[in-house]
Amino acid sequence: MNEKQIGVDYSELHKLDSPANRLIRESIWGKEDDIGQQSFITPSYLDELIHRLRINNDGYVLDVGSGAGGPAIYIASKTGCRVFGIEINDVGVEVSKKLANKSGLQENTEFFLGDAMNMPYEENSFDLAISLNVMNVFKDKTGLFKEVYRVLKPSGKWAFLSGTFDMPDDDEIRRKMARGYFIPQYYDSLNDYRRKLELAGFIIEEITEYVSDFWVQVRKWGDAYKKHSVEIAKEQGEENTQYHIEYFDTYLKLVEDGKAANHFIISEKSE
Ligand SMILES: C[S@@+](CC[C@H](N)C(=O)[O-])C[C@H]1O[C@@H](n2cnc3c(N)ncnc32)[C@H](O)[C@@H]1O
Repeated sequence: MNEKQIGVDYSELHKLDSPANRLIRESIWGKEDDIGQQSFITPSYLDELIHRLRINNDGYVLDVGSGAGGPAIYIASKTGCRVFGIEINDVGVEVSKKLANKSGLQENTEFFLGDAMNMPYEENSFDLAISLNVMNVFKDKTGLFKEVYRVLKPSGKWAFLSGTFDMPDDDEIRRKMARGYFIPQYYDSLNDYRRKLELAGFIIEEITEYVSDFWVQVRKWGDAYKKHSVEIAKEQGEENTQYHIEYFDTYLKLVEDGKAANHFIISEKSE
């Protein structure tokens, strides 16, 4: 197997109703908290985010890396705003559209299959751009931030939740973290994020750390993979399943050692 094929593919994860994914999702969220997310967020976290960012029914919101659409649809249903998700995985977009139809929110949501590095939206289109646990996939984060800046309206906000890392200089750890997923991951520290946001023109407004619950969420993902590894391997392959277990064990250890955290960073485009 060549290096590019290692790691769990989002095309498999986004099939929310497959037997393995049902088991994974039931273990992590139970019925109540499963909103179709593919991240460390929970409904109560999104409620807080809606409140903090004052999202209301006038808003035009962009969701960068919208996954299977769960968070975008949740935000639209709670606020009545319009949410535009951009997602590079075709299964994710297909599932998002189905979820939106099922929730009667097809008028409030639009899901586009594309690369967030090069978005199809005009300049000054959105009041707010959000992104939930996606940033690690971008090698050129300054480039991504400039693209988000372009599509935001003046004074528009850019708010994302992302893992932040002081990655140890250890090849084994780096190898285990590089390809937990099919898409390569590039880990930045909080200071890297600060610098790159400012380079793109953003003014940083607020940074908060999502600490204890984050540890719980990482642990839950790892435990779900361990508990259901046989069923998961049938869908996602034995090697990738084991790789994913290693990935979450390594991630959890980094959190425990104070080398990994999850930060919510709010910044603003100038007027
Ligand atoms: C961890 S998931 C998070 C999904 C979603 N934000 C959520 O909370 O459910 C990361 C998502 O980013 C998507 N992604 C990766 N690279 C991307 C890119 N260049 N443009 C848009 N989406 C991308 C992946 O396909 C995946 O669905």
